[in-house]
Amino acid sequence: MEPHKKEIIKATVPALEEHGTTITTVFYQNMFKKHPDLLNMFNQTNQKVGDQPKALAFTVLQAARHIDDLEAIVPAVIGIAHKHRALNVKPEHYPIVGENLLEGIKEVLGDAATPEIMDAWEEYYGEIAQIFIDVEAGMYKEAEWDGFVPFKVTGKDQLSDDIVRYTVKSDEVDFDVRAGQYITVKVDPSDYPYEALRHYSICSVHTEEGLQFAVKKEGTDDTAGVVSHHMHDDVQVGDTLELSAPAGDFLLDPADEKLLFIAGGVGATPVMAMIEEAIEAGKDPKFIYSVQNKGMHPFKDEMQEFGEKIDVKVKYSDDEGFLNHEDFEGLQDRSVYICGSMHFMNAMIKVLHEVGFSEDNIHFEPFGPKMSLVGE
Ligand code: HEM
Repeated sequence: MEPHKKEIIKATVPALEEHGTTITTVFYQNMFKKHPDLLNMFNQTNQKVGDQPKALAFTVLQAARHIDDLEAIVPAVIGIAHKHRALNVKPEHYPIVGENLLEGIKEVLGDAATPEIMDAWEEYYGEIAQIFIDVEAGMYKEAEWDGFVPFKVTGKDQLSDDIVRYTVKSDEVDFDVRAGQYITVKVDPSDYPYEALRHYSICSVHTEEGLQFAVKKEGTDDTAGVVSHHMHDDVQVGDTLELSAPAGDFLLDPADEKLLFIAGGVGATPVMAMIEEAIEAGKDPKFIYSVQNKGMHPFKDEMQEFGEKIDVKVKYSDDEGFLNHEDFEGLQDRSVYICGSMHFMNAMIKVLHEVGFSEDNIHFEPFGPKMSLVGE
């Protein structure tokens, strides 16, 4: 990109900072009006609407800030690209997003969005999109299978008041999973106007008996998550689910020997697979788990089994409060892997920094768009 165009992009950062989320909100509305088929791909539930435009806005803003060293945004691109690959986002979708994003910029900034600014952004969007397309092309090549494949539900276990574990099997594909990955389920709930895609973490690296993932029933009444309620209430053993191949970059770094796993609520799911992998690899893991109470506590038997081999500490927040500084004292030399809600992640990262853990040693996976968390 020519230097004067780069300067134009940089000069628009303050306006994007101010209006970024409004721009992407307008962009979403416009895009869905013109391409209603895309409603089948994006999560339309109450909880997520808002987070997603925020995550997209923040990513675009980061790309504008880093126009002179785009390498800096590659780690973020990789995490997003895993989700895109799992959702089957394809190169032909990028011009649709680009056109509507540029229209969003024009609509919100009005006369301030001069032809020069629009021209520079059109070119820059093309560059950002190409980075995503290239990274995703590699992921499509490496994926364990193409697109969505039918799996038969062979097990459904109630793990806690609001978490169910599914075991599913396919005759069509042979595959490996890695601890920390998620699969993506495509369902078509009868009382919902669209298809819906959701990511669910895999709870075990062992797949001889089938692939296992856990689903939390989200919200009640007005805030009820359509898909999680459909999964809990309607999907039974013997039914078929469409799954896309395992994805995700929340993986154990093989160089880490001393590990500390921290999880909150349903965030235990990928961590259970990671602890399994760590124990089998002869590493030295510890596990600290926060959950509201005994009724909400999933994987009780599995955690007890881990407890016979490694330190496992379970804290019920109703009785003993949330995890805090003293829970992590003396563990600062360990590499940390955290998983839980956005709120849990924010709280843990803050406490760990205060207790002296180094930022480089903290890996995390929020259940929700990561870039909306970083952008807080
Ligand atoms: C998710 C950015 C292009 C479809 C996301 C997320 C970000 C993002 C930050 C959230 C990831 C997370 O959960 O951690 C971008 C950027 C793009 C782009 C910067 C362009 C350069 C596209 C395209 C499509 C698409 C072309 C397909 C039409 C999706 C969907 C999700 C997603 C369906 C999941 C959202 C949900 O949960 O509903 N993207 N994206 N994205 N993206 Fe993109």
